Amino acid sequence: SLMALPLAARADYPEKPITIVVPFSAGGPTDKVARDLAESLRKTLNATLVIENVGGAGGTLGATKVAKAAPDGYTVLLHHIGMATSPALYRNLQYKTLDDFEYLGLINEVPMTLVAKPTMAAANYGELAKWIAANKEKVNLANAGLGSASHLCGLLFQSTIKIDMTTVPYKGTGPAMTDLIGGQVDIMCDQTTNTSSQIEGGKIKAYAVTSTKRLGSPALAKLPTLDELGLKGFNVAIWHGLYAPKGTPKPVLDKLNAGLKKALQDPDLHKRQEALGAVIVQDGRVNPAEHKKFVTDEIAKWGVVIKAAGQYAD
Ligand code: MLT
Repeated sequence: SLMALPLAARADYPEKPITIVVPFSAGGPTDKVARDLAESLRKTLNATLVIENVGGAGGTLGATKVAKAAPDGYTVLLHHIGMATSPALYRNLQYKTLDDFEYLGLINEVPMTLVAKPTMAAANYGELAKWIAANKEKVNLANAGLGSASHLCGLLFQSTIKIDMTTVPYKGTGPAMTDLIGGQVDIMCDQTTNTSSQIEGGKIKAYAVTSTKRLGSPALAKLPTLDELGLKGFNVAIWHGLYAPKGTPKPVLDKLNAGLKKALQDPDLHKRQEALGAVIVQDGRVNPAEHKKFVTDEIAKWGVVIKAAGQYAD
């Protein structure tokens, strides 16, 4: 009888709220992607979605929580490029990235911006580079911890300009942004989903974008790319994906993947994301096999880059 099946395998999944674990603080870019996606996903899954922020250790605490959660379809993880950088940065990661999760599909790609406190005198990147060189390790670079997107971008930035700054880790770039606006930290590399509104509001200064092409949104269009400013080949785009604990029943995985696919076809979601500089991935990348292969390749790619920049991976 139906009652004999474990809860999640029943045909009427979901029959209670689904928790989306965001491995960073509320108010940051990962949280923003999760809440924006949830607006569409709750309709396509016909479910109540609860966002749970589990910050710390560059996103690995939240990822660990989901890796160890019951594989019943009621706990999923929304995470970003940190899934691919953490294996190179954490010797005792509490989960195996490729074995302990079911891959539900990629979501979007988000470029980053090099931003500074509002009192930063530099009028352009050239002057900022001079200020950094004159202040070196006294410069406070904020990030969301080892394995975060802001850490990765800061690592690449430091190793490209060969200056080792003082990094100040937060549980997310939501709280980091508060301190940047307050001038407690000097600079940060953060995703446009978090910086666009602050730049438009004149709350922080923006100097460049980390994409290889300039961006289209009004707040960001006039920002040069780091590549055109001389940091040749600088290219960081932060991808996000959805994961369930290994062993979640196939019928549940199929419903989650179908719901995600449909949510990502929502024109309103596309509009909301594009206004923040983010791009929803092509339909074909919203499938388990493609998602897992992509992460496998990214682990290899960033492993090499992180080792090369080793002395900056504080
Ligand atoms: C990151 O740097 O990885 C993100 O900004 C973390 C966050 O979403 O707060």
